[in-house]
Amino acid sequence: MYSNEIVVDIGYSKTVIAVRGKGIIFNEPSVVAVTKSRGKLKLIASGLDAKRHMKSRDRSHGTTLVHPVKEGVIENAEAAVLMLKDFLKKALPHRSFLSPKLEVIAVISCGISVVERKNYENVLSAAGLKSPILMETPIAISALLSSDYNLIVNCGASIADIAIVGPTGIITGCSVTTCGIEADRKICAYIADNYRMGISSVHAEELRIKIGSFYDNRLVDAQVSGKNLVDNTPHQAEITANEIFPMLSDVALNLADVVESVSMMCPEKLIMDVYHAGITFTGGFANSYGLSDFLAERLKMAVNVPKSPETTPALGALAFFDDREKMYKML
Ligand SMILES: Nc1ncnc2c1ncn2[C@@H]1O[C@H](COP(=O)(O)OP(=O)(O)OP(=O)(O)O)[C@@H](O)[C@H]1O
Ligand SMILES: [Mg+2]
Repeated sequence: MYSNEIVVDIGYSKTVIAVRGKGIIFNEPSVVAVTKSRGKLKLIASGLDAKRHMKSRDRSHGTTLVHPVKEGVIENAEAAVLMLKDFLKKALPHRSFLSPKLEVIAVISCGISVVERKNYENVLSAAGLKSPILMETPIAISALLSSDYNLIVNCGASIADIAIVGPTGIITGCSVTTCGIEADRKICAYIADNYRMGISSVHAEELRIKIGSFYDNRLVDAQVSGKNLVDNTPHQAEITANEIFPMLSDVALNLADVVESVSMMCPEKLIMDVYHAGITFTGGFANSYGLSDFLAERLKMAVNVPKSPETTPALGALAFFDDREKMYKML
């Protein structure tokens, strides 16, 4: 039997749903395959099914793949509602209209505007999740940490949240777009410039995950396919880890600069506490080979990556259901 307390974390790349007493019950790509008819979107498939559908031969005419959330904000509210409704159906198949109301914490990026928060609430409500608690990602993660003051860096596909969090919430922090997609964009540009080849961002991401390294001496390579930019014919190239290292280290240096700026805003009396706790580094991008070492060396601080860093925000938010008093102090 599921509890009625759930967490949803809708990212650009993945949507994670967790339930109190169960943990993570759903983790699929945040995409929908849709068609448009008379100005309205019609859902064809969501998540993994949507990705499969777009690759299949019998894909219906006019179907497009939409990422409803980008850079921490709702980009396409109509698609977001269709996606979330379908995800909830898949994640909680036994719920009916007689089931008790769900209590929801939605993990959001820090620093989004009042209007953007309202958009989030409207989407959640239209998908059946009324009166949600919106919780900034770094606050959610702090629930899993033993120190009182923590420097938290959550780096996903389209947005990175960096914040110092204390017992009463975020002390200082910001959001930047220095993360997965930015690295992929740089890789696409490099391959276009040096091989006269256009590759999709999906191929760039696959290449980055396969061979990308934040150490400058990784000896691996991989083949990547795309289109010749001169005559549009299919083209392939062998790319080495060393070749794309400068693009990746660029992203990591930018990220380190932002982390440094946030730590400089730390009140002096907390500096030693934050330093001793080290940096907690989460989000899917924290899985990148060598990135935590790169940041630790650059920032002269310990950088700790939890297991499955992409689901840490949802698990952290879930922990707050056990201590609501603490939660309300932090929001
Ligand atoms: N093993 C890996 N190595 C390198 N990068 C990875 C790995 N696994 C996932 N990523 C990257 O992590 C990013 C996705 O992380 P995450 O699931 O935290 O993002 P998200 O929450 O969906 O996005 P956002 O927070 O931007 O809305 C993608 O850019 C993906 O390429
Ligand atoms: Mg995220």
